[in-house]
Amino acid sequence: PEENVFSYNGVLYPVVLCSPETFEALESFEARSDDVLLAGYPKSGSNWILQILNDLVTADLKKNKEALEERVKYEEKGDYAFFEFGDPGKFERIKKLPFRRVLATHLLPGCLPTSVFKNNAKILMLTRNPKDVAVSYFHFSNGMPLLPSFKTWDEFFSAFMCGEVVWGSYFDYMIEWNKHINNKNIMCTTYEELKENLILGVKKITEFFEFSLTEEELQAVVDRSSFQAMKENSHRTHGTFGNILFRKGAIGDWKTLFTETQNQEMERKFEECLAETKLGVKIKY
Ligand code: PPS
Repeated sequence: PEENVFSYNGVLYPVVLCSPETFEALESFEARSDDVLLAGYPKSGSNWILQILNDLVTADLKKNKEALEERVKYEEKGDYAFFEFGDPGKFERIKKLPFRRVLATHLLPGCLPTSVFKNNAKILMLTRNPKDVAVSYFHFSNGMPLLPSFKTWDEFFSAFMCGEVVWGSYFDYMIEWNKHINNKNIMCTTYEELKENLILGVKKITEFFEFSLTEEELQAVVDRSSFQAMKENSHRTHGTFGNILFRKGAIGDWKTLFTETQNQEMERKFEECLAETKLGVKIKY
């Protein structure tokens, strides 16, 4: 697996998706106050919420035909929506886009361009129960060629608990982002909350980013983002990678792999590291 990863600031990343050059070029990214940013540790549901944010921005743009056309062209070109993916030249290409930009990232806040915080870009922070994240990550690591794979679930669990997985430790990630919790430009939401009442969650997101959509438009965005709908469409949106990404889309799948000992270890670690954090991470699920 070692030739598939590189280390940047002490965290491992997969060479197939990221490069040190892109990380360096990231600092040249000038954030705007109307940027729509999504932050989430891997497997927290980023691709789901990214589609919702893209649809909300597009629906909001309907009043501006020219910008809408530009936006469609941009989406067809397929510039990677994740900060850390793709070639370093992409930051230059997205500089002058005449519409609200939607960008996602799994990076720690300290790895983001400083202009994100300086220019008051708004960030939606998405979290998910670490137990479900771990199970999702295990299946994903083994399903994706060119990502480090793991022989057994037990081996993956140990690596996850000590942060020896790509994008680093779940726990460090939450601790670092929690330092920004009082920033009024950050809104937190959870996978579980959205799964249980998506329309309500989407309305809160709409208010936070100040999108203006009718009830029908909101409902259409929600309908398009069901797990079933996204899975069926995944070949078009994500190619062969879609099948691996849209796996189960459920709450509580951790019960299929966790032993009682692993469950206790996770609860203990959570209590130890994250009990005081205020991101709203839900573990009792
Ligand atoms: S990645 O590769 O880190 O960017 O993965 P990410 O998109 O963050 O998370 C993948 C998990 O999100 C689930 N998913 C959804 N759940 C509910 N509804 C919808 N529409 C949806 N779309 C994606 C996806 O199935 C992964 O979770 P698991 O538990 O593996 O199914």
